Order: sequence, then C-alpha cells, then structure tokens
Amino acid sequence: MSPYFLVFILSVFAYNVSCITIDLESAPAVRNVSLKFVGVTLDSGLIGNKWKTFNLTSQKVLTLAKGISPSYLRIGGTACDHVIFNMTQDQTGSNLTVADWDNLNHFVMNAGWDLIFDFNVFLRKNGQWDPTNAIELLKYTVKQGYKPAGYELGNEPNLFPSANAVSEKQLAKDFAAFRNVASSSGVPPFLTIGPDIAGMTRSYLQNFLEAGGGDVVDVVTVHQYYTNGQKATLKDFTAKKLLDKFIPEVQSFVKICNEKAPHKQCWLGETSSCYHGGARNISDRYAAGFLWLDKLGLSALHGLQAVLRQSFYGSNYGLIDTNLNPNPDYWLTLLYKRLVGSPVFDVTQTTDPNIRVYAHCTNISSSIGYKPGSITVYMMNIGSKTVSVDIPFSSSKTQQRYILSPGDHDGLTSQFVKLNGDVLMLPNDYSLPDLKPVFSNDTLQLKAYNMGFVVIPDAMKPECMQT
Ligand SMILES: *[C@@H]1O[C@H](CO)[C@@H](O)[C@H](O)[C@H]1NC(C)=O
Ligand SMILES: *[C@@H]1O[C@H](CO)[C@@H](O)[C@H](O)[C@H]1NC(C)=O
Ligand SMILES: *[C@@H]1O[C@H](CO)[C@@H](O)[C@H](O)[C@H]1NC(C)=O
Ligand SMILES: *[C@@H]1O[C@H](CO)[C@@H](O)[C@H](O)[C@H]1NC(C)=O
Ligand SMILES: *[C@@H]1O[C@H](CO)[C@@H](O)[C@H](O)[C@H]1NC(C)=O
Ligand SMILES: *[C@@H]1O[C@H](CO)[C@@H](O)[C@H](O)[C@H]1NC(C)=O
Ligand SMILES: *[C@@H]1O[C@H](CO)[C@@H](O)[C@H](O)[C@H]1NC(C)=O
Repeated sequence: MSPYFLVFILSVFAYNVSCITIDLESAPAVRNVSLKFVGVTLDSGLIGNKWKTFNLTSQKVLTLAKGISPSYLRIGGTACDHVIFNMTQDQTGSNLTVADWDNLNHFVMNAGWDLIFDFNVFLRKNGQWDPTNAIELLKYTVKQGYKPAGYELGNEPNLFPSANAVSEKQLAKDFAAFRNVASSSGVPPFLTIGPDIAGMTRSYLQNFLEAGGGDVVDVVTVHQYYTNGQKATLKDFTAKKLLDKFIPEVQSFVKICNEKAPHKQCWLGETSSCYHGGARNISDRYAAGFLWLDKLGLSALHGLQAVLRQSFYGSNYGLIDTNLNPNPDYWLTLLYKRLVGSPVFDVTQTTDPNIRVYAHCTNISSSIGYKPGSITVYMMNIGSKTVSVDIPFSSSKTQQRYILSPGDHDGLTSQFVKLNGDVLMLPNDYSLPDLKPVFSNDTLQLKAYNMGFVVIPDAMKPECMQT
C-alpha cells in the first residue's frame, strides 16, 4: 500500500468520520409520558400591558395553537402577584377584566388547550393569603361554565422581596386555604399546582413540601433556566457543559418530588433557555432548538410529567414572534407533538459527546398515522462535523426522517428553519404546511448543528405495539 494512501485513510478516520450506533433493539423502556407532556406559558404581564401585540382573536394564532394541542397553557410569572380581577373595570384599565377572562377561556376552548391560572398571593390579610378576589374570579368562572385544568398561587416564592416574604409553612397553609375556597366555590375537578420555585432544588421547595404542601398540591412545579439572557452568547446554545447542567438538576428534583410528595406529578412549570426574558436574537432563533429539544429529551427520560415552555408568545424566547409568526422552536415543538409518544427508551450513548439522542415509541394518534410498533429517535449534533448515526434494526431498515437545519444564511441565528432542506412557512392563516419526511434505507449522516427526528415505522418494538 502506498504510504500516501495510508495517510489518506488515517486522516479520514482521524478528522472526518465519526460514527455512532444506537442500540434500540435492546434499549429498555424506562418511563411513560402523558399526552400533554409539552405545554406552553404566557406571562401574566401581558394582562397589565393589555396583551401588547398578542391577539387572542387572531386566526393565525388559533391555527398555531391548534397545531400543538392538546397543551396546557399556564398564565403566570412575576406579574401574577400583582394581578387583580376586576368585575366592573372596562378594557381601558390595567387589571384582569371580565372581557380578558372570557377571551382567554374562549381561546383555550377553541384551541383544544387547558388553562392553568396563577393567582396573586400578595393579596394578604393578617399574614394569611386573602382569597376574596380569587373567590370572585372562581365564582364567575363556575357561572360561565369555564373549566380551567388547574390553579397556582404565587410565582417563585423563594425570590419574593423581603417586604412580601412568605415562609414555606405559611405558603403551605395558603395553598390549603386555596383548595378549600375553590371546592366551596363549586369549582369542578381541578389541579392544585405549585409552588413554582425558581430553581429545581432549592431548600424552599423541600421545606414547603414537608410543611404540608406535598399533601395539598396535585402537581409539584419548579422553574428552570440554563443561564442569564443578558450574558448568554451563541456558543452557550451548543455547549455540552450547559446542556449537561440540567441532568443533576432534574435528577435531584425528581428525587425530592417523589420523596416529599409521593404519587404527585413533577413538572417544569415554567422553563426556557435563559432568564431575564431570553437572549436577544438567539433564544428565539434556530439555535434555541438545541436547549429545548435536549430539555424535552432529558425531562422525559428522568421522569417529569410535563414541561411548560416559557413562552408561547413574548420576550426573546416565544414560540411565535411579535408579528405572530412561528419561530423555529414552534416548528420543533409541532414535530415533537406529532412524532413523539410513549414509552421512553434509554438510549444514552457516550461514543460521541456531540450527539445527543433520545428515543420514544412513535405517537400513533397523530394525524401522520404511524402504526403501532413504530419508534421515533430524536437527536442533535452540537459538533462541527458530520456524524454517521446507525440505528440497526433487524426487522426494518427504512427510516422516515425529519431533519432540521438553519433556514437561511444567518445560520444558527436564523429566524427560520428548514425541514429536509425546505424552509417551513405558514401557507396562510388557516392551515399548517405538510410536514413531509424523507424516506431512506441508508445510514443517517447527521450534519453539523442539525437536529431532527427519525421514525422507524416497521420497528415492531414490543413496548410500542399497544394501541
Ligand atoms: C407504561 O404504561 C404501561 C400501560 O399502563 C405499563 O404497562 C408500563 O409498565 C408502563 N411503563 C413504565 C416504564 O412505567
Ligand atoms: C386580532 O385578529 C383579528 C382577526 O384576525 C383582527 O380582526 C383584529 O383586527 C386583530 N386585532 C388586533 C388588535 O390586531
Ligand atoms: C375595579 O375598577 C373600578 C373602576 O376602575 C374601581 O373603582 C374599583 O375599585 C376596582 N375594584 C377592584 C377590586 O380593584
Ligand atoms: C390592578 O389594580 C390595582 C388597583 O385596583 C393596582 O394597584 C394594580 O397595579 C393593578 N394591577 C395591574 C396588573 O395592573
Ligand atoms: C436582531 O435581529 C434583527 C433582525 O435580524 C436586527 O434588525 C437587529 O439589529 C438585531 N438586534 C441585535 C441587538 O442584535
Ligand atoms: C400525539 O398526537 C395526538 C394527536 O395530535 C395528541 O393528542 C397527543 O397529545 C400526542 N401525544 C404526545 C405524547 O404528545
Ligand atoms: C428500502 O428498502 C425496501 C426493502 O428493500 C424497499 O422496498 C424500499 O423501496 C427502499 N426505500 C428506499 C427509499 O430506498
């Protein structure tokens, strides 16, 4: 063999070819996830700001919302602890009006969503939460026949300014008071959700659950952000270290949740890439997909029952932008809802740290119509080289691929995303585009900074055979 040829071969191995194998045939099913695993939020601040440019009666918004239904919609955030329901105020005031509440409830009903509303815990009397204003809203809600899925009380109590500080023990009492008030106001079955802690493992969480909060809530919620949006750089969005930071956080949270609130659900009640409203021109662009898809994968793998994305609209991390057009993460979320089902398999691999990979049974109830036994693998390449990803299956070689890449020359900061090479766009205000896969029998070559979903329709994976 010519020495030149040997050098060529070696350089191919050393520099160009990375190859991993995903062993799905023997991967164990480790969790189940629910139909509403992925949800969204809107910030209560929109109420005081008269919804800014967000438009609950816009046909386009409704079309986008229906696309990702069913979904929880949580209305909460720091501003919730300043919101007052006012039965008599007209739309010119800055409080939650009857019209606001009607519009919101009609919107979620039309979209096929489920509302979660966060009550103001700063309304207090003699050290206790004062339920008077909440009772007004609950009574009106019952009278109208609206059926929100759940209620929360306060936002991030571990960060309350000292003038408004509420102890863990007192907050547990306030939650119990809320439950009684809601029951006696004739509210049909609802979830009590909280305490919406900032951070996943704070002592406030543990103390609240131990002080009786664990018995009162149906769902334990915490908030998670990877980093500060005012300091975040584009590099952070593909940094393995930042992505991995979430692993010990979710593990610790699930442990606390299961120990201190047994048999209760554990959710990320509000979560996004960066706090302080996101990172301008990054967290609403193509790059945001890495942190989002990875968080969904890890959350499912480690046993969370829901992940609510901050936010559907607003700040620098909305799924839709201020013109009410979808950002790349909207399309990612839509594909996730359509393609990813339950149960969840553990396919963690360590051969190539730049490839993050997750697998579930395919969602066979979605409009795409995959058959039982199908598997969906989702993955991303955070490295700068193409990696060949082999998913050997004895029963079938055929894959249907939905591969996402940046939508234009802006690359990772593109406002657009391509699905299998074509930019995703709304054809009109009434319908979503077809999301067409590419069929292939060859080993997948996942390019640098691409991500996506691979369905193996004939996998006949036993755990995925139940309909
Ligand atoms: C998932 O749910 C199914 C049906 O209820 C059950 O048989 C299975 O054991 C569950 N799997 C896991 C990993 O919990
Ligand atoms: C909201 O959307 C509706 C329907 O598309 C439209 O008629 C209305 O003008 C919009 N309102 C605002 C404030 O943009
Ligand atoms: C509701 O708004 C009206 C008119 O602005 C005001 O007089 C009243 O005090 C408000 N009620 C509450 C509960 O804030
Ligand atoms: C609601 O009205 C009260 C006064 O009734 C005011 O103090 C508060 O700031 C208003 N809340 C919002 C969200 O605008
Ligand atoms: C953000 O992106 C928009 C549109 O691409 C651009 O006009 C604006 O200057 C950018 N802002 C910053 C702070 O980079
Ligand atoms: C699967 O798709 C159906 C129909 O769109 C939807 O109701 C369901 O929530 C999806 N499942 C998951 C786990 O997202
Ligand atoms: C994949 O292989 C199957 C079975 O050999 C064949 O029927 C199918 O046409 C192939 N598909 C592609 C896209 O090559």
